[in-house]
Amino acid sequence: RDNRVIAPQLLDWYDRHARVLPWRVLPCRDQDSPVRADPYRVWLSEVMLQQTTVAAVKSYFHRFAALWPTVQDLAAADDAQVMAEWAGLGYYARARNLLACARAVAAMGGFPDTREGLRELPGIGAYTSAAIAAIAYDAPETVVDGNVERVVARLFAVQTPLPVAKPELVALAEALTPRERPGDYAQAMMDLGATICTPRNPACGICPLIHDCDARAQGIAASLPRKAPK
Ligand code: ADE
Repeated sequence: RDNRVIAPQLLDWYDRHARVLPWRVLPCRDQDSPVRADPYRVWLSEVMLQQTTVAAVKSYFHRFAALWPTVQDLAAADDAQVMAEWAGLGYYARARNLLACARAVAAMGGFPDTREGLRELPGIGAYTSAAIAAIAYDAPETVVDGNVERVVARLFAVQTPLPVAKPELVALAEALTPRERPGDYAQAMMDLGATICTPRNPACGICPLIHDCDARAQGIAASLPRKAPK
């Protein structure tokens, strides 16, 4: 199978079916004047999404972005007000890191534009640094979350259980990442995993990658990825 056909097919699907989310700019076919997402809004959304669902995050994102439209505004915010606005999202260490990160970024004059630079900031780990670099700066980074692990495990029918399979899944995900539109591609993988290649009852009949999916061909999509018994 030719890995290079996957990304163009997925991007074509994303151009038609991307979820409209408040931190996204609509995918832009006019690559001569692409509109890039605001790094501040991408960072804010990715920190909120770390342990929380898209549905739960939306209203919080709207309130934060309205109260503090820029990273300078958030850096100057009152700690207690930020903690109060975060109430309900849980994992309060994220809110404390959010403020520490905003203050560090404001002092630097803006967000770093590389994965390595982003990785040094409070609350930004391997996943979040890759997501911001790809989505905000269109850097060719591979973003691997649970959705992507599932999509890749199914495309390649990886039978090894998680977490042992993780390095293999990351290597396969890297092999699929295109140099064209890596940010849209990362979000397309997330949308595919969230809406079609779901943990249970995947909607293979409407999947743009049905003809490239080894698990589908073997009739085992719903059983992947396997998980080691606890
Ligand atoms: N989950 C984490 N980041 C996301 C994003 N940018 N779009 C959709 N779901 C996500």
